Amino acid sequence: MAEYKLEVTTGTMKYAGTMDYIHATLFGTEGQSERTELDNFGFDALSGMTRTYTIKTTTSLGKLLLLKVEKDPFFILSEDEWYCSKIVVTTPEGEAILFPCYRWISRGELVELRGGKAMKVFEDDCPLLIDHRKKELTSKKRLYQTDLCDFQIFRWAITDEKIPHRIHYTDIDELPAEVRFSLSKEHEIRFTKKLTQNVVFCNIFICDQKIMDKIPTREYDGKPLQAAAGLCLFYMNPENKLMPIAIQLHQQPSEQNPIFLPSDSETDWLLAKIFVKSADAMEYQAIYHLMGTHFLAEVFAVAALRSFPVIHPLYKFLIPHFRYTLHINTLSRTILFGHKGALNTSTLGYEGMTELIRRGLSEMTYSSLCLPENITARGLESVPNFYYRDDGLKLWNIINSFVRKVVEHFYPSDNDVVKDTELQDWISEIFTHGFLANKLAGFPTTFDAVEEVVKFITMLIFTVTAQHAALNNGQFDFLSWMPNGSLLTRRPPPTTKGQSSVETILETFPNIGETVKFAAQAVVLSEKYSDMVLLGAYTEEWFQEPALKQMIKEFQADLSNLTDIITVRNSELELPYTYLSPTEIENSVTI
Ligand SMILES: [Fe+2]
Repeated sequence: MAEYKLEVTTGTMKYAGTMDYIHATLFGTEGQSERTELDNFGFDALSGMTRTYTIKTTTSLGKLLLLKVEKDPFFILSEDEWYCSKIVVTTPEGEAILFPCYRWISRGELVELRGGKAMKVFEDDCPLLIDHRKKELTSKKRLYQTDLCDFQIFRWAITDEKIPHRIHYTDIDELPAEVRFSLSKEHEIRFTKKLTQNVVFCNIFICDQKIMDKIPTREYDGKPLQAAAGLCLFYMNPENKLMPIAIQLHQQPSEQNPIFLPSDSETDWLLAKIFVKSADAMEYQAIYHLMGTHFLAEVFAVAALRSFPVIHPLYKFLIPHFRYTLHINTLSRTILFGHKGALNTSTLGYEGMTELIRRGLSEMTYSSLCLPENITARGLESVPNFYYRDDGLKLWNIINSFVRKVVEHFYPSDNDVVKDTELQDWISEIFTHGFLANKLAGFPTTFDAVEEVVKFITMLIFTVTAQHAALNNGQFDFLSWMPNGSLLTRRPPPTTKGQSSVETILETFPNIGETVKFAAQAVVLSEKYSDMVLLGAYTEEWFQEPALKQMIKEFQADLSNLTDIITVRNSELELPYTYLSPTEIENSVTI
């Protein structure tokens, strides 16, 4: 007689537990156990609890390969989903094997967990596991396909040829269990700071909104609205402050396109700044926030879900960085960015915002997503008081050093990278569906070296954590006071000087009802989740390997040091820059 001890942990969120029956079956190289009910006296699967069970077999099952978990109805009660965090199995030989689960389980679902060390495709040598790996990927590709009635089952959803492709689900209730919100959510957001296309000449800087030129706009009261596509010159004054010194609201110089100056009438100069800030707010939301973080995060996630089996080291490494992303994007396509979404009330409306995203993606390069290269290309290395850059570069380096340790652990040589077909599938899907096969922009199509994987995953983690925090978390602070960046301007940009008054400015701003809607949006997007996971927290235990646990500890220590450095710096600032403090950065795009 052999005994296997199972320690089963239920998630800590509300409603994680279940009254339903739970059965487990173990599969090993030397056979399988009976299908055994996990039943102790009292409630078994309660939120946050770990319960221990025993499965008995006549002889040892040899090397443990799979753990099958099933949930069956308790009498005639309705579906009662269970959130299983993990199961640790101790074998008769004394080995403790971790089987991470971290997902909701419904009745009748086939859940087969793999335990132990992370394994790449060429490392699996047991026929049962090779077969399991293939079946898992086939079923994943079905789950994350476009249309269940369509025979081309491996397609992505393409709503527009020129914006990143996406998951096909339109209703959050249909999302697969592994990517759904837990039920204990409360929302949060705050608003942004974005990276404008800046070019620097000594102490003169230019912000060029060329990307807004001739962009479609929506109609308002039967007339088309107009957005600026401005050029704004800034001067770095002796107090190290960037001050606007000249604004032209359209690209082509003409008599109807004067250059506004601080010496013009107060309302003329204010109006010019209002239009530049309005265009900036739309560009920031569409290109940098939505496309640059939310849509790209979705592509990285869907490609990973389709390409990596759960036992793959990069699945284990990256899945915490995709938490809730598909859920929030599916929601935001309806309430924020869909045809009836809040962004449609902007000057550009749905068509204009979509066109802005298309243009943004067509101009995006790989190096623009890599912060050190981005800062150098824009000549912003020495601008004083640029805390996004200062904190961002430190974070980039910390993430890079962590990623390097993890990637080099699993890929000791370039050859390991080249022969991992699942890894190659992943980057190929991202290149095709995220970067739309734009070879000229420098995005990788394959990985030939360890270094390339390190760089790409550094960029990925930076984008979905730090970059999203920098763009998302200042929204309330910067945009809830509408004149600072109104998404809607009801009057066209001024074409002459000396004609404006306070009345003109009031007619340019959204009306009271529209302003309230924009402010409400900023408030809703500023709520905090009760179960927020911070950068590097890794609350789920995906890795069995002690080396990985140690790397995570070192990463957390580096982040904690950075928090201290930023706190000291901020204590001397009149307006502290907190968005890139690790204690403010989430581990994934969730809002
Ligand atoms: Fe966001």
